[in-house]
Amino acid sequence: MIKKHINSVTPGMVLGKPIYGENYEILLKKGVELTQGYIERLKARGYACIYIEDKDTEDIVINDPISDKIRLMATKDILKTYKVTQASISDIEADTSESVMRSINTPKVKRTFQESQAFKQLVTDIDSFLDEIMGQDILSGLNSIKTVDNYTFEHSIDAAIISLIIAKKLYLDKKKLKQIAIGEFLHDIGKIFIDINLLNKPGKLTPEEFDKIKQHTSFGYELLKDIDAIGYVSAHIPYQHHERQDGKGYPRGLLGNNKIDKGEITYVEHDKMIMGAEIAAVADFYDACISDRPYRKGMTPDVVYDLIRNGAGTQFNKELVNCFLSVMPKYPVGSEVKVTQGMYKDFTGVVAFIDVSHMTRPRVKLLNDDKKNKIKPIEIDLSREASYEIQCI
Ligand SMILES: [Fe+2]
Ligand SMILES: [Fe+2]
Repeated sequence: MIKKHINSVTPGMVLGKPIYGENYEILLKKGVELTQGYIERLKARGYACIYIEDKDTEDIVINDPISDKIRLMATKDILKTYKVTQASISDIEADTSESVMRSINTPKVKRTFQESQAFKQLVTDIDSFLDEIMGQDILSGLNSIKTVDNYTFEHSIDAAIISLIIAKKLYLDKKKLKQIAIGEFLHDIGKIFIDINLLNKPGKLTPEEFDKIKQHTSFGYELLKDIDAIGYVSAHIPYQHHERQDGKGYPRGLLGNNKIDKGEITYVEHDKMIMGAEIAAVADFYDACISDRPYRKGMTPDVVYDLIRNGAGTQFNKELVNCFLSVMPKYPVGSEVKVTQGMYKDFTGVVAFIDVSHMTRPRVKLLNDDKKNKIKPIEIDLSREASYEIQCI
């Protein structure tokens, strides 16, 4: 299987994973042969990348860290929780941040959220989600297919998966994993109190507009803060996931100490980030950057990987970044790459396999030569051959 950008998908190619619509109904089944009409419709619906199954890449297995069934279940829970809560705020006046805060604290909004079947189901379903994550040691790929409409829900799931695999690597106990999962699933819920047109604005934001978007952190916290089923640790993940180690984040400019503290995740010092949020900051950044957004194209995984490595100590908790780099391959399985150095310079292909002891040096299957002609596949193993360098395309 190979992950392809929709622009390089041509009629006759076969779909490797199903495609779901806005309400998670199946649009196209796995195994469907794509026609020009299907491709055009997928483009129109905003699908940026899809999975293609073909002869040359049939031996490449892209393991989703969670099954389609559990992903679908959790995504639907999050979607419904958002929608139910959103419906309860239709009449709030949102002219100032104070008026939004007041509205969030009205019994109608709080109770609708807390007592909704969707939220209760989300909390119940977290156990099955955690059970599947527990079987994973590294992230061989994040296989969500995002569109403008489903972005927030898929992003919440992917950020949760990354966070939980980091947390698992740190041997955090189940209680903490659950706190992180709830916090991550709902980390951007404050966005429901912000104008959707502003969130999806294609152009550059003015400083005032950016200030408004920043408030999703405080709004999310306000909604979740005194709900028993959430708990204060989970509520602080939405609140703090855009804070930075150097104090230059938002909304409060908290600091981090760049250390891993495996003790109880508590809220001891009020000017410091909690570790759950420090993990979320890395996971959120990674997933947001690799995703296409209305205002910019997604960056390739290798570029985002380097941004996180370079942000260690200032933007992100330094010790946590080391942990992240040990579970996240630089070039995920199934991604398209180009050779930039070595014998097959400018040949392109797909990442075929990652050995856990060589997370940045995968095995690659080359499918096209430097003139873009299809070739008989050639395998190169970067863990054995130091002269090769590649980049995601
Ligand atoms: Fe956010
Ligand atoms: Fe986010």
